[in-house]
Amino acid sequence: MEFLSIIICTILFLSVLLSYYLIQEKKKKQKHKAKLPPGSMGLPYVGETLQIYSDNPNVLFATKQKRYGDIFKTHILGCPCVMLASPEAAHFVLVSHAHLLKPTYPKSKETMIGPSALFFHEGAYHTCLRKLVQSSLSPGAIQKLIPDIEAIAISTLESCNNSQVVYIFREMKILSFEVGILSIFSQLESKYSTELKEQYCIVDKGYNSLATNLPGTAYQKALRARRRINQILREIISERKEKKFLDKGLLGHLLNFKNEEGQTLPEDQIADNIIGVLFAAQDTTASVLTWIFKYLHDDHKLLEAVTEEHMAIYKLSDGGKLPLTWVQTRNMPVTYKVILETLRMASIISYTFREAVVDIQYKGYLIPKGWKVMPLFRNIHHSPEFFSDPQKFNSSRFEVAPKPNTYMPFGNGVHACPGSELAKLEMLIVIHHLVTKLRWEVIGHSNAVEYCPFPVPQHGLPARFWEKP
Ligand code: HEM
Repeated sequence: MEFLSIIICTILFLSVLLSYYLIQEKKKKQKHKAKLPPGSMGLPYVGETLQIYSDNPNVLFATKQKRYGDIFKTHILGCPCVMLASPEAAHFVLVSHAHLLKPTYPKSKETMIGPSALFFHEGAYHTCLRKLVQSSLSPGAIQKLIPDIEAIAISTLESCNNSQVVYIFREMKILSFEVGILSIFSQLESKYSTELKEQYCIVDKGYNSLATNLPGTAYQKALRARRRINQILREIISERKEKKFLDKGLLGHLLNFKNEEGQTLPEDQIADNIIGVLFAAQDTTASVLTWIFKYLHDDHKLLEAVTEEHMAIYKLSDGGKLPLTWVQTRNMPVTYKVILETLRMASIISYTFREAVVDIQYKGYLIPKGWKVMPLFRNIHHSPEFFSDPQKFNSSRFEVAPKPNTYMPFGNGVHACPGSELAKLEMLIVIHHLVTKLRWEVIGHSNAVEYCPFPVPQHGLPARFWEKP
């Protein structure tokens, strides 16, 4: 009897071992079978970088998608890449297999913003910093900012109303910078905000220039300005610690943080994350706002419907004498859909980058370790399969929720935008004061687009403003 059970156990053990061996062999075979996605790698060394910079990159991606399908390879900026243009693939990269892919940015950009900024990281450090950023941008936190955002919106729009030609993108950059400063510092003395603005403008110019550290170049000036910003931030931090003013805005959240061992965040980590949030907040929101001015200008019926919605609120708040409330901002359905459709149409963040940390297989294709992986948000947002007549601005399409993973203006997964609610609140408030107070005429009708670095209407949308009768 004992002998029989030894035999049975041995057979069982051997069969487990054999099936394990067979599974491993099958996996190995599958791996060898997996092939690289279709596509062309362009010229040696330069790949297809030139096409990306000489043409509208979105035209290039759309042409490739037509030719090769939803997954294709290419070679840009010195790196082999796999581009993915389906909702399932974007979900695979950003959500379900995010642990196999890490965020990746050019070294020059990382140096300029600061290597400790959360978007360059993963794991425990990213989770910790993200929680702090997210809580400073939660609905509870941002609703307290409404009166100050209103003040910024009113003063920007008043400065536009001067019978001169105004470049809307430039004005919206100033506005979104000020809202960024507000959400980070709550109140900030003007001596600090003025100098931060000056230095930040220099950094902004250098960020998108050629990364050469030669004297006199925009990049070198930007690096110097970035160091000065660190000094300004250190001065603000030490003053706040002295005055025990530590409870407000993102800076308050970062200063108050203590880990399990009771350690606080080092000042360079605080500085890099503050600059990171300012960067993430400014050009993005300003570009989308500029598109909203254009879409409302170009469609009289739409402008009428949005104006009607806001005039009703304006009348209820005693002809605009009372400040907007959080509840009112939650009840602007026509305007909210205009914002959603603008985010889809403009798709200002057309794609994002990740890097495979191991060999990955997706739908029988191999994504080799070290290759860049790019989910193409714009291709998905502009696909007739998910959005009928995709090139037409039609905000009523958002009466029905888009299909899962087809709408990602703020990304998806662990790195999705923590500032999305602030950005939308800012847009609702600007639109409210715009349509209740002003008329505007765009100068030189054109549908041309330029990249600054996000797509914006040509020349940043020059326009003239008038007060409403
Ligand atoms: C319309 C305006 C905005 C758009 C379209 C936008 C879009 C995005 C997208 C697509 C991502 C994800 C990038 C990726 O996965 O690689 C992202 C990340 C981020 N955004 Fe925004 N954003 C906007 C405004 C803002 C604002 C106002 C803030 C802050 C006040 C902000 C802060 C951030 C931060 C900190 C990240 C990095 C998150 C992380 O890595 O965990 N964004 N944004």
